[in-house]
Amino acid sequence: MVKEITVKASDIPRGERKIIDVDGISIAVFSIADKFYAIDSACPHQGGPLGNGELVDGATIVCPFHAWSFDVKTGINTKFDSIKVRSFPVKVDGDEIKITIE
Ligand code: FES
Repeated sequence: MVKEITVKASDIPRGERKIIDVDGISIAVFSIADKFYAIDSACPHQGGPLGNGELVDGATIVCPFHAWSFDVKTGINTKFDSIKVRSFPVKVDGDEIKITIE
């Protein structure tokens, strides 16, 4: 089932993130250089809180558990492109960020 979630853009300062929970899925929504991105906040390694990690080099999130890192824009691991977290489509309409979850 497709679900659309709305988050206020003004709640996420540039270079920051907001973690939201949707039906048991933790999603990290990032504000990067005037654009917004949403990825699964659970690390695919051992379920660490990826979305709460350090944001480096503009758009790379580093898991606080064992330092696996992912491109926030795609969800792809920065070392092994076969490893990925879910990336959710985002549309911005004024102050509303609409995230589609399938
Ligand atoms: S749980 Fe994220 S790197 Fe291990």
